[in-house]
Amino acid sequence: MNKKRKYKQRTLEVHAGEMPDPVTGARATPIYHTSSYAFESAEKAKKLYALEEEGHLYTRLSNPTSEVLEKRVAAIENGIGALAQSSGMSAILLAILNIAGNGDEIVSSNNLYGGTYTLFKNTMPNWGIKVNFVDTHDLKAYENAINDNTKAIYCESIGNPQLDIPDFEAISEIAHKNNIPLIVDNTSAITMVKPLNHGADIVVHSATKFLSGNGTNMGGIIVDGGTFDWTCGKFPQFTEPDESYHGLIYSEAFGKKAYIMKARVHLMKDLGTVMSPINAFLIIQSCMTLSLRVNQHCANALEIANFLKNHESVSWVNYPGLEDNENHEMAEKYLNGNYGCIVSFGIKGGIKEGKKFIENVELLSHVANIADSKTLVIHPASTTHSNMTEEEQIASGITPDFIRMSVGIEDVSDLIYDINQALKKAVE
Ligand SMILES: Cc1ncc(COP(=O)(O)O)c(C=O)c1O
Repeated sequence: MNKKRKYKQRTLEVHAGEMPDPVTGARATPIYHTSSYAFESAEKAKKLYALEEEGHLYTRLSNPTSEVLEKRVAAIENGIGALAQSSGMSAILLAILNIAGNGDEIVSSNNLYGGTYTLFKNTMPNWGIKVNFVDTHDLKAYENAINDNTKAIYCESIGNPQLDIPDFEAISEIAHKNNIPLIVDNTSAITMVKPLNHGADIVVHSATKFLSGNGTNMGGIIVDGGTFDWTCGKFPQFTEPDESYHGLIYSEAFGKKAYIMKARVHLMKDLGTVMSPINAFLIIQSCMTLSLRVNQHCANALEIANFLKNHESVSWVNYPGLEDNENHEMAEKYLNGNYGCIVSFGIKGGIKEGKKFIENVELLSHVANIADSKTLVIHPASTTHSNMTEEEQIASGITPDFIRMSVGIEDVSDLIYDINQALKKAVE
């Protein structure tokens, strides 16, 4: 690739980070399925261990196949570096632990994937990290929740389950005024928005979703925008010596890459949350069709949302692509004409009809995943959120009639046929 040219999105998805294998000439990125790498000399080994030279020494720190994926996703998100992880949850975990510890706090939007919500609400407090939840759109609430111990603001680009789209620029202004970074989980809106271009400092992904595409791999990735000043006085972990590397100071040793390097050589090394090289290889293959697939997901989702809106068995539809949707304005501002693959709707009746709908779909799959090429459907009140009381469910937007659909890339007329026949059977 020409270093001077600013390649476009589709080109980056196919090429970024990759070149023919220098040893064999293989054009596709090989799977370097190795745990370790032979050192050229004792001196070279010493330098690699002291982080004085770049290179691979053990796959829990870095791997040539994963490196291609990291470079590619960094390019797709306009970041300066990335770190592949074993799952989306480990990406989120490391993104936070890299900057927060016992006694610190995070301010987070309350509209989050359930696993992240549990990590923040129940697990992190056990480690002394308190997470203060605020309404995604309430800018005053973010301001009010920040105190001297706050180390970051966190949100999702299309929050789950309400499909809230945050005002990234306004929220990042609040974060930066308080000398803290904005971290965005961009799993649901990859290629639609680049949060780093709108003030975010760190982006995380569950690579299990759009990045993998077909519901076949677990993976996660952290992308560093390289924009945040870690020497601002709030983050001693970047400006004080790390004894595990003989007093290395990350901000001095790595400059703009301090955050992503610390996540790699400190946390991933200590916690072992590394992505396997095979998964990195598979996700690289899927990257090459990323925006082709995302665009098809979104076009199908918009058509299905419009179909459902006019259906006699449907009482409401939540999709940011609908003009009367409360998130439409933010979607228009940030998502570049796409609106995501998740469509939620209410089936007339309630829990009984919801279950019946799910039982009667013939093409759609009853699965607790999103952003698979196959269309997926779930009735949260009787499955993912069934351990909540009815009051708790309703407070989280999980009404008894709520159906969540993750629209895939099949021919939309076949999807509409299936949805229609299942709705008819459910609401007879
Ligand atoms: C938005 C979002 N972030 C993170 C995750 C967690 O990712 P993983 O399942 O790869 O750990 C999910 C999983 O559904 C998700 O939807």
